[in-house]
Amino acid sequence: MSTSTTSPLNLKKIIPDAQDFLPLNGTDYVELYVGNAKQAAHFYKTAFGFQSEAYAGLETGMKDRASYVLKQDKIRLVLTSPLAPGGPINEHIAKHGDGVKVVALWVDDATKAWEETTSRGARSFMKPAREEDEHGHVVRSGIHTYGETVHIFVERGAYEGSFLPGYKPWKNDYNPEPVGLKFIDHMVGNVGWNEMNTWVDFYARVMGFAQLISFDDKDISTDYTALMSKVMSNGNGRIKFPINEPAEGKKKSQIEEYIDFYHGAGVQHVALSTDNIIDTVTQLRDRGVEFLRVPATYYETVLDRVGEIDEDLKPLSDLGILIDRDDEGYLLQIFTKPVLDRPTMFFEIIQRKGAQSFGKGNFKALFEAIEREQESRGTL
Ligand code: FE2
Repeated sequence: MSTSTTSPLNLKKIIPDAQDFLPLNGTDYVELYVGNAKQAAHFYKTAFGFQSEAYAGLETGMKDRASYVLKQDKIRLVLTSPLAPGGPINEHIAKHGDGVKVVALWVDDATKAWEETTSRGARSFMKPAREEDEHGHVVRSGIHTYGETVHIFVERGAYEGSFLPGYKPWKNDYNPEPVGLKFIDHMVGNVGWNEMNTWVDFYARVMGFAQLISFDDKDISTDYTALMSKVMSNGNGRIKFPINEPAEGKKKSQIEEYIDFYHGAGVQHVALSTDNIIDTVTQLRDRGVEFLRVPATYYETVLDRVGEIDEDLKPLSDLGILIDRDDEGYLLQIFTKPVLDRPTMFFEIIQRKGAQSFGKGNFKALFEAIEREQESRGTL
């Protein structure tokens, strides 16, 4: 069941301290550089229910790379692999493994977005450039953010082609059903020791974001590991970027493990929203997606903590879905294991029932589950 609070387009709350020099309509796409885009696309279709949307490669006149565009409701994933040795895409993959290169933001004016951000200190990744084909034109520009990750501003205007100029529709006979994923709720960046405030300041100063929430190591620590986090949001609340940094613990923090294996700062997880988490997660599990599990004892006390909820506890506990509550309502969430061989990127599946927070009440149980995984990797 859809409620007004589950769609970012209906988000009533305006973030009071945010500035409006960089109006953002939403996330346009997320592009991963991967070792084998064709096979990765098969995985995201089969396991996560994404639909074939567009393709660019040798057949479309693209000489140096192949890109597959996948879509599920408002979520657009782009998977890109290079076609020859050398060059920035290969270097990115060699250093980081498969990972998010581009968090693209949908704007009305990509030239102004680039001017506003670079004049406030952002490092340019791509000057405003007009791209066109017989379906119209788009303008894109880009800036660097943490690590080797970039933001690309996409101005679509009246463009009517598939995805971007240079792409053609990707028609395929293999079309697994979607699993009910709707939009990107938030995307989390992991940055190095003492770098969180640098990037919080970047999003505030360069992009006009405001800080929603912060967690320190007292909120987010177990006996062994700790991290700190601040959540940055743009003014209309459609773009939310929590930024994590490791904190000192008895053993290695999961953020430190990420930084070690990603070789720097990068996107840790992408949270995907659903209106029916029980149905979505049931399908994802059936399709082979692996999730972190908290101990069964979590469910013995969870309702004492969060109070009454609409769902039966049984399917939530069978699936390992976590529950948390804040002043505005509650949320249901679950985290996949890393979707790569390196312990780096993973996904969160989230259903908000009023709550606008990020599941702080689950951190301890969750991090203990992550530590068990780290233990098995010998990286704790
Ligand atoms: Fe999250």
